[in-house]
Amino acid sequence: MALRWTFLLLLTPLLAAQGQENPDPNISGEPQETGRCEVPSDWDPRLQFTPEQSSYALNDSVQLSCAGEYVPSVPHIRCVSRGMQTLWNGTATCKEVFQVVPGTLEISSTSIKLNWTCRLPDTCQHMRATCRLAGPSSPPCEAEEVEGEEMLHGQEGTFICPPLQPFTDYSVTISLPPSTILFEWLVRTEETVPDKPEKLWLDPNTGSLRWKALPPCKGEIIGYQLNITARSTRDGGLLQMERLRLSRSVTEHPLPGHGLGHSYTATVQGVTAVGAGAASLWEFQPDGLGTPHPAGISCRSVRDVSPSQGTAVLPLQPIARPPAEVREHQLIVAATHNGTLVEGACSGEPQPLNASRQPDTYVAAVLNLTAPTDFVLGAGTHGQGYRNAALRPGWDYTALLRLIQRSQEAEKFTCICYSFSLGK
Ligand SMILES: *[C@@H]1O[C@H](CO)[C@@H](O)[C@H](O)[C@H]1NC(C)=O
Ligand SMILES: *[C@@H]1O[C@H](CO)[C@@H](O)[C@H](O)[C@H]1NC(C)=O
Ligand SMILES: *[C@@H]1O[C@H](CO)[C@@H](O)[C@H](O)[C@H]1NC(C)=O
Ligand SMILES: *[C@@H]1O[C@H](CO)[C@@H](O)[C@H](O)[C@H]1NC(C)=O
Ligand SMILES: *[C@@H]1O[C@H](CO)[C@@H](O)[C@H](O)[C@H]1NC(C)=O
Ligand SMILES: *[C@@H]1O[C@H](CO)[C@@H](O)[C@H](O)[C@H]1NC(C)=O
Ligand SMILES: *[C@@H]1O[C@H](CO)[C@@H](O)[C@H](O)[C@H]1NC(C)=O
Ligand SMILES: *[C@@H]1O[C@H](CO)[C@@H](O)[C@H](O)[C@H]1NC(C)=O
Repeated sequence: MALRWTFLLLLTPLLAAQGQENPDPNISGEPQETGRCEVPSDWDPRLQFTPEQSSYALNDSVQLSCAGEYVPSVPHIRCVSRGMQTLWNGTATCKEVFQVVPGTLEISSTSIKLNWTCRLPDTCQHMRATCRLAGPSSPPCEAEEVEGEEMLHGQEGTFICPPLQPFTDYSVTISLPPSTILFEWLVRTEETVPDKPEKLWLDPNTGSLRWKALPPCKGEIIGYQLNITARSTRDGGLLQMERLRLSRSVTEHPLPGHGLGHSYTATVQGVTAVGAGAASLWEFQPDGLGTPHPAGISCRSVRDVSPSQGTAVLPLQPIARPPAEVREHQLIVAATHNGTLVEGACSGEPQPLNASRQPDTYVAAVLNLTAPTDFVLGAGTHGQGYRNAALRPGWDYTALLRLIQRSQEAEKFTCICYSFSLGK
């Protein structure tokens, strides 16, 4: 640092001395040229100077013009002196009378906008800007014609097409009637999320859920998000949740549990590059079950509960059936009997227990289960990311033994729930 300062301090006086000793050689060496301005050779060749001369005296003012549909960026320039130099008091170029300001064309999924300028408002006063569908619309993606036409007034403005359909081609035109087209663009509006699939149904022949492929009206369909929740009606407490990301060519998927002895809730959403759209819902309740709350799940009961010690003994059985590469089960505790919250916990990402908060949902244990085990919940053990804290008297609890299987396109959560209360 010190070295660099020294260098700068030495350099500054040197630079100042150089500036004084060597004035501009072009001015000092050519006395005839002193006090006159010439037309710079690198200026826009379309510029015309009035009066037209090969050079101009100090203080001469020159009127500028351009040929055709162009106007000068400044109407006058003057030859001025600055120190020993003579130069023009500014630079000039020829600009189009009408211009769409570069970089201002903005396209969204429902609008097209641009900024324009007109340097001669009298010339531009009959100009029109229009938006039109670029081609005939065809089913299933029918787009309505738009009535977007605007007369342009003044020196500048913003032209906005009226509300447009997403992912549709429009032509934006700026014209001078009757037949001069100044600008024309073909613009495709941006994509948005797709509409919800028309319907989702069970194919009784195959036991698969099916849906109608979505048309690319709001964007290219890149796939479907299928979420299925299956609750076993025979094996109390078994809950299966599948989160599937399917490719766009897929329009059916088998139900987990083959449709037997389960109640189901399923949603399907189309996905474009922008994201997933609204969901189509399908629910199924086996006959003879009445109509309980769709999220109401029946859990296994726990007999061995000790409110005084804050423990409950859970008869755990491995969920994974051999040959299963995943053996790691998590034991999640939720201080609720609310079925919606319990389902959320089965597919959620519970945090380790935080002692300074009310218990809500936490991981109590991580177990490599290979055989049935009686597990004491609330025994106080803890490890990396989990804590088997003592249960609180007076609270309702749900415990979930969970197995997660993940692949690139699917997440499957299988949970067995146990519910109990730590009475008063
Ligand atoms: C002197 O004039 C020549 C030719 O016009 C030019 O290339 C050069 O940059 C000028 N030098 C200075 C110091 O202005
Ligand atoms: C140029 O104009 C300035 C003020 O506008 C004036 O002081 C100066 O004398 C004029 N120079 C010449 C050469 O006419
Ligand atoms: C240069 O001089 C002309 C004529 O006097 C004047 O109209 C113009 O505003 C001046 N340009 C600048 C940048 O000062
Ligand atoms: C277009 O013009 C409007 C109004 O003058 C201005 O607010 C907006 O920033 C301009 N847009 C761009 C992209 O320059
Ligand atoms: C389906 O599951 C995914 C992944 O968990 C989630 O982002 C999406 O919101 C769910 N869809 C519905 C309709 O709940
Ligand atoms: C269950 O929890 C959900 C979400 O917090 C809530 O909307 C619902 O009302 C609760 N149900 C009952 C029966 O308390
Ligand atoms: C526990 O919860 C408290 C209050 O919400 C928060 O301030 C604290 O950071 C949490 N601790 C951990 C380890 O998450
Ligand atoms: C479960 O088994 C795997 C593989 O044998 C091992 O990496 C992991 O640490 C074990 N987890 C627990 C909680 O014992």
